[in-house]
Order: sequence, then C-alpha cells, then structure tokens
Amino acid sequence: MTQSRTIWLHVCDMGAIPRLGTRVLSHESGDIALFRTESDKVFALRDRCPHKGGALSLGIVHGEKVTCPLHAWNIDLATGEACAPDVGCAQRFAVRVEAGEVYVSLDAQAGGAADATALAAVV
Ligand code: FES
Repeated sequence: MTQSRTIWLHVCDMGAIPRLGTRVLSHESGDIALFRTESDKVFALRDRCPHKGGALSLGIVHGEKVTCPLHAWNIDLATGEACAPDVGCAQRFAVRVEAGEVYVSLDAQAGGAADATALAAVV
C-alpha cells in the first residue's frame, strides 16, 4: 500500500489575490487558478472548465462559485463540480491560508510534481 503525502507549497500572500478575483499559477501539469471570495476564502482549481476547457481564471467569482467566461457554466469552488443542470468537474487542489500566506497542496499521486521550483506565479 502506498502512503500519500501532503506537500504544501507557499504560493503568495493573500493580498496578491484580489477579492472576488483570481490569480494563475503555472505548473508543468497545467495552470492552476486561485480564487478569493468576498469573505476571503481561497480555493484552487485546475484552470480548465470541465465543459470545453475555458479558463476559469477569467470567469466571474460570486459567492463560492465561478462563472466560466465561455458558456456561463457555474462551477462550485469548493468541489470543482459544475452546478446543475450541467455535469462535470474541474480538478480541485487543497488550499491553506496561514498568517495571511497562501499554500496549495498538489497531490503527488495525481501526477503533479510537488516541488516548489515547478510552480511559478503569473501576474
Ligand atoms: S467552456 Fe466553460 S462553460 Fe463552456
């Protein structure tokens, strides 16, 4: 049996993600979008809509959802699931905020190379 491990990567400070806005992290496995809600919760999803691959980071954040800019699917930020009646799921990444600093966990078993050098913030 393989044990999973959690590696937390420091990404940025909270102030780098605007309220109701996004920030994109480039990673060798694909871009990851960080979303900050009005109540300062932070979520991370693969920056690829489960419908036809639109960039969720260009969508509109409202409540704990983002509306995709291409065809207006609503995606739940906590689960990555499309809201009914649409069906699909964007890959979700765990986020931790500690003392105003944002950390993301990449699941090593999902193929993400979990090393800090592979992750770079894109403004
Ligand atoms: S690509 Fe996102 S709704 Fe179509």
